[in-house]
Parts: sequence; C-alpha cells; structure tokens
Amino acid sequence: MYLRSLHFSRRREGPRGAAALVGAIVSVAPLDPDPAASEVGSQPAAGEACVAGAEALISVRGLTKVFLHGGRELQVLRGIDLDVGAGELLSIVGSSGAGKSTFLHILGTLDRASAGVVSFGGRRLNELGAGQLAAVRNREIGFVFQFHHLLPEFTALENVMLPALIGRLARAEALQRAEELLVEVGLAERLSHRPGELSGGEQQRVALARALVWRPKLLLADEPTGNLDSATGHSMHELFFALNERFGTTMLTVTHNPELALRMPRRLRMSDGRLTEDTGPPRPGAV
Ligand SMILES: Nc1ncnc2c1ncn2[C@@H]1O[C@H](COP(=O)(O)OP(=O)(O)O)[C@@H](O)[C@H]1O
Ligand SMILES: [Mg+2]
Repeated sequence: MYLRSLHFSRRREGPRGAAALVGAIVSVAPLDPDPAASEVGSQPAAGEACVAGAEALISVRGLTKVFLHGGRELQVLRGIDLDVGAGELLSIVGSSGAGKSTFLHILGTLDRASAGVVSFGGRRLNELGAGQLAAVRNREIGFVFQFHHLLPEFTALENVMLPALIGRLARAEALQRAEELLVEVGLAERLSHRPGELSGGEQQRVALARALVWRPKLLLADEPTGNLDSATGHSMHELFFALNERFGTTMLTVTHNPELALRMPRRLRMSDGRLTEDTGPPRPGAV
C-alpha cells in the first residue's frame, strides 16, 4: 500500500470540509502505537475520573454553538445537556438545519463548542490540545457518514486496514481485524473489491467496518442510510444492532429513517437548538 499517496486526506479545509472528514475517517494524525488504550470497555486511567457521572461515556452540559456567518451570529445549539452511558444505542431525529450534524461534529471533536462542557471518557474536550483531540478522534471515535468516503484506488480490505496502519498498528493485527470486521458486516466474499466494484449498501458496510477497526468506544453515524434504498437501509440497521452487541460500541445515529429511529432503545429529537428525549419504549417492528 502507498500511504504516501494519502496526502490529500490530511485536514486542509475547515472542520466541515470533505477533506477534514476523510482525514478523520482514515486517522491521518500521527499516533503512538498503543492499541490496548483503545480496547472496548477500557476504563479511564487512574486519576482520570469521570467529570459527570461515573457511568457516563459522554457528558454534555450547557453546550451552545454559534456560527458567525456574513457578519451575523447564527445560534445553532442553545444549551444541550446529555449523558450517554457506555454501550448505549441512540438515535437523533430533527428537521434539516436543526443542528444534528453540528452536534455530532462537536461530540466527534471535528468542531468545538462555543460554550459549555463536553466530556468524553472522563476528559473535558475543551481542555484538550489539538494533538490530544486527534488521538481521541482517531482511536476512540468512529465515523460513518451519508457518503462513504472510501478511497477508490484501494480494496475493501485495504480501506478498512488503512486507519489501523496509519495509526501504526502491526500489519498482521490490522489485517486480522479488517478481515474479521468485513466478515462481520457480511462482506467475506468482497475483500479484494474496490469501492467502484461494490453496491451502495456494500460500500456503506465497508465504511462501517473501517469505522470500527480501532474498536472505538463511540460510533457517530450521520444519516448512514440516507443514500440507500429501504431494504438495504434495513440490513444496515440490523448491522448496527449486531455490532453494538458484538463489540459493545456506543452508537449515536442521526437519521431521517423513522424505522431506525423508533427501533433504537433511546431516541432524541433536535429542535430549536435543544435536545428532547422520547421516553416511550422502542418499537422493534416499526416501519
Ligand atoms: N460552518 C458553518 N458556518 C455557518 N453556518 C453553519 C455552518 N455549519 C452549519 N451551519 C448552519 O447551522 C445550521 C445547522 O446545520 P446542521 O448541523 O448541518 O443541521 P442538520 O444536520 O440538522 O441538518 C444550519 O442552518 C446551517 O446552515
Ligand atoms: Mg446534517
């Protein structure tokens, strides 16, 4: 593989640029090889006590986000409080422009809050420097977007291995994890296919496998089935549940798909810059 050819995936644009997203996805920041630190279920190191609630993986207090645009302030998030426990499955719904992606980007360290506190695994994100944020983003958080952002010249197997290799995981271990994940997402027969030789649903499965190669504590998915037909979207949903069970990954999924939203054990709605909780029970068979 030609890692040197990946220069284009470094962060060059603002936090919302496509290159930034690809950069986040393929974990381009140089990192120390310390795979044990990213194992699912690993606890905060001694002295790294959780800021709010011993069980919370994510703790958000008074989060606001204001964009400056054309000399005017646009208040998008207006005071969000949220605790998410390790292993939880959540959906977020809300109208277009409500601030769902903005919220996910802040949780995923791709953007910073204007005010408030976001804690992840006991660390306050606003107190971390760029290098520490990159380490959290690359090792502990996986991303899946509406568009898969796979690298077209690499095979499915190489696309999944890349973040691990760039983060300097041993090649044999990266290969084993990538193969295992691709089998897990039902692509055992597609390891050597390039993205152009895969269907849309298969491409998203590869993107999901890639997001999990570091065994992140948190998976952030922003409309992951937005480009898929309903049957293909449905099988992606099944995968989320299976992978949550298999790896214990906490999953936060923004979706327009009411079926996926309703099936999640915990459901949130974003409106007027605030999050509210749907307290009813999940509806497993809902369409
Ligand atoms: N970088 C930015 N600069 C200015 N405004 C932005 C920026 N990013 C998002 N916005 C605005 O913030 C609002 C919320 O955007 P977004 O989080 O993408 O919404 P959603 O994902 O819920 O559709 C929108 O009105 C959008 O135009
Ligand atoms: Mg969005």
